[in-house]
Amino acid sequence: MSISSLDDLLERCRTDPGGRTKEEIASLLRLTDPGDMAALWRAADTVRREKVGSDIHLRGLLEISNYCRRNCHYCGLRRDNRAVSRYRLTPRTILDTVEALDRQGIRTVVLQSGEDPGWSVGQLARLIESIKGRYDMAVTLSIGRRPPEEWRILRDAGMNRYLLRHETACPTLYERFHPGDTLQDRIRALKELRALGVDIGSGNLIGLPGQTPEALAADLLLARALEVDMYGVGPFIPHPETPLSNVPAGSVKDTYKMIALARLILQNVHIPITTALCTLDPAARARGWSRGGNVIMPNATPPDVRGHYEIYREKGVGHAALETTVESIRGEIHAMGRSVSTSRGGSLKRSATS
Ligand code: 5AD
Ligand code: SF4
Repeated sequence: MSISSLDDLLERCRTDPGGRTKEEIASLLRLTDPGDMAALWRAADTVRREKVGSDIHLRGLLEISNYCRRNCHYCGLRRDNRAVSRYRLTPRTILDTVEALDRQGIRTVVLQSGEDPGWSVGQLARLIESIKGRYDMAVTLSIGRRPPEEWRILRDAGMNRYLLRHETACPTLYERFHPGDTLQDRIRALKELRALGVDIGSGNLIGLPGQTPEALAADLLLARALEVDMYGVGPFIPHPETPLSNVPAGSVKDTYKMIALARLILQNVHIPITTALCTLDPAARARGWSRGGNVIMPNATPPDVRGHYEIYREKGVGHAALETTVESIRGEIHAMGRSVSTSRGGSLKRSATS
């Protein structure tokens, strides 16, 4: 792409993101020249400054269970992996961890697990109520697809947000890697949650076999159509006990391009620098935050089980105590001239109480 047509396209992303086509987005994903990529990072950083400001939000990630009834081809927690030792935290441990997050000044907890039928909706609702009753904290759930009648119960218990990545917007790829599940069902769940006033987060994997730049562009167009509040992108990382064990990891560069394009196309959304990206690139936080990102999710899972949440290899190898991690993250943020948010960091689209 010539410099002038690149600058022109980046400017049109900034001013009219909804008018951008799949082909235009794919052409930006194909950039390889370092100068061109620097222009993409700059454009994303400009939109981030305009739409989100300088704050970076910390969300405590608490992996409450690693049981899963699904069998996603890429994930080490898949049902058929018998080599993983399964755990489910007790409500006591979860509340103690939330207490620790509160002491760190963190105003969002993300409760994450596989699709674990071992949690009844009543147990989850009581857990959310206990957290909301004790702390000034937003509660995000990221526990996969559940029966639709449960969403309202969880919302009424105080759930503010839900993360459910669509993983890939290509229906054929989706069905290839998610046995027994369809993209349509996934999208329906996101819409059901949205209709109940829950803030929604989606996202996609980078580096699935067969994924083209057009497929990645379609991911962003789907997120835009869904009006998501949060969007996370992470590189696929192979896990030895899965059908994709021999597939190379997703590209770090493509991940940064998707972060930047998510900022340009979705604009007023929260974009985390994902753990998977941090695993492949030790400089991911500083790079990601200057290429569109504005969120980090420090791992608050108790160190004795953290290593068992192995969606990919080497996940959770850093067992640093929460306080140490949070302190170094704050230092990095200040060193970049950015600020640590003291708010809950709810939706940038709805000024709700989330
Ligand atoms: N590599 C990277 N990300 C993965 N996830 C699952 N397995 C892997 C893997 N092998 C991601 C999925 C899921 C999120 C919680 O973790 O995108 O939505
Ligand atoms: Fe289960 Fe989620 Fe892993 Fe799929 S990606 S196997 S739903 S934990």
